[in-house]
Amino acid sequence: MRDRWATRTMFLFAAIGSAVGLGNVWRFPYLTYEFGGGAFLIPYLIALFVLGIPLLILEFAIGQKLQKGAIDAFKSVHGRLRGVGFMAIASGFMVVIYYAAVMAWALVYFLRSFSARLPWAEDAKGYFFGNVLQLSDGIGQVGGINWMLLAALAVVWILIYFCVWKGVKSAGKVVMITMPLPIILLIALFIRGITLDGALTGIFYYLKPNFAALLSTEIWLAAASQIFFTLSLGFGIMIAYSSYKKETQDIAKDAYVTAFANSAISIFSGFVVFAVLGYMAFSTGVGVPDVVASGPGLVFVVFPQALALMPWAWFFASLFFLTLLMLGIDSAFSLVESVNTVIADKAKNAVKHKIAFVVCLVSFLLGIIFTTNAGLYFLDVVDHFITNFGLVLAGIFECLAIGWIYGAERLRTYINKVSEWKVGPWWSVAIKYVIPIILTILVVVQFIKEIGANYEGYPTWAIGIGWLTVVIPLVVAAILAFRPARTKIRL
Ligand code: PHE
Repeated sequence: MRDRWATRTMFLFAAIGSAVGLGNVWRFPYLTYEFGGGAFLIPYLIALFVLGIPLLILEFAIGQKLQKGAIDAFKSVHGRLRGVGFMAIASGFMVVIYYAAVMAWALVYFLRSFSARLPWAEDAKGYFFGNVLQLSDGIGQVGGINWMLLAALAVVWILIYFCVWKGVKSAGKVVMITMPLPIILLIALFIRGITLDGALTGIFYYLKPNFAALLSTEIWLAAASQIFFTLSLGFGIMIAYSSYKKETQDIAKDAYVTAFANSAISIFSGFVVFAVLGYMAFSTGVGVPDVVASGPGLVFVVFPQALALMPWAWFFASLFFLTLLMLGIDSAFSLVESVNTVIADKAKNAVKHKIAFVVCLVSFLLGIIFTTNAGLYFLDVVDHFITNFGLVLAGIFECLAIGWIYGAERLRTYINKVSEWKVGPWWSVAIKYVIPIILTILVVVQFIKEIGANYEGYPTWAIGIGWLTVVIPLVVAAILAFRPARTKIRL
């Protein structure tokens, strides 16, 4: 008997918990700022409706209809298609390995927040790169293992293990806390943020539209890949999660609720982040553009620095890093659960917690590379290739497999049979034509950019490692296609 979510709320909280993560708090606000402020919302919302929602409906529907994790679900569509699921799972597995490393940094900051004077008050940048990461000068200088980070990573993996050790039974309970709590914490940080001097200047920068930015192709690519990342699409997660629903449960409404809740939280956290950046600009007497930094810089350098300037610094700092940890954990364990699900599909008699233990242990061991002195560089390379290629390719394959082989209309008929809100014929058009075409253009444009110049100027061997993270799953998928499994179509 397949495991089940105890309630519909648990499923929804788990799906939203997976979607809402570090991507909402640093990636979204930063992209918005970089690509023309308020104007970024236009491509972002278009990508949400054109790519995000149809694909989310697709992933929810195949998981629920076929009652299997990504690999076996695609195998039941056609014996040659196991690789589509494998591609998704393999990419997801690699993402969680470094996602946990980022959570380990947050854990270190959280623990160090409890001091009268925050240890990074003097030099937040030096603290992050020198003290926490102990970063070397280049990816070639791997140096040794940073024991502090290794210990933090082990703690993070132990936490993840206890969230998923009983599959959706335990994960369903955990998300009832880890989904809503960080939102409450964000609201607290929002109230603190907007009452700071300079907050409005920051928010003004966040929302000020620059419509000229809409003319660049980059903004559209950025919006599309952000939608993939933020909705956890192309990883097999939403397929695994919905495979634990009953076949007769509603699909469309759950997809809309998940997608809108996730985007609302992104837009909201933009206000929090920019209010704090405005305060920081005000306190240090520089302009808002001068305090903004991208990626890890925003969350682990600028934000800590701003927090250190506040009264009750230790309190708000610990609150912020606790928020990050909570945001991250349900995204991280959703990836682990999607891997566990495909293994459990195969090994019917295996005990769930043993599978979870092995997956967590292997992920932890592989993650050690990210705790070395060159860890951040490796993380940057792997993240770049998987998010730009791995997940987008998985998305294209999913659309082609369902649109053309399983039949988009056939799946839509099923969706409409169980859903209260009906999905129109536009959905099949999106799955068969619009999404694969848009994503293919996206991948090709990005590919041309990659071969033009090494990403961030990394040495070619490092770029090669990045490509391997995409090529290995692709090759395995191709091999699986040539060695078809027996098809058992469930009608
Ligand atoms: N959706 C998560 C976020 O926005 C990230 C994530 C990506 C989680 C892929 C799982 C899988 O942070």
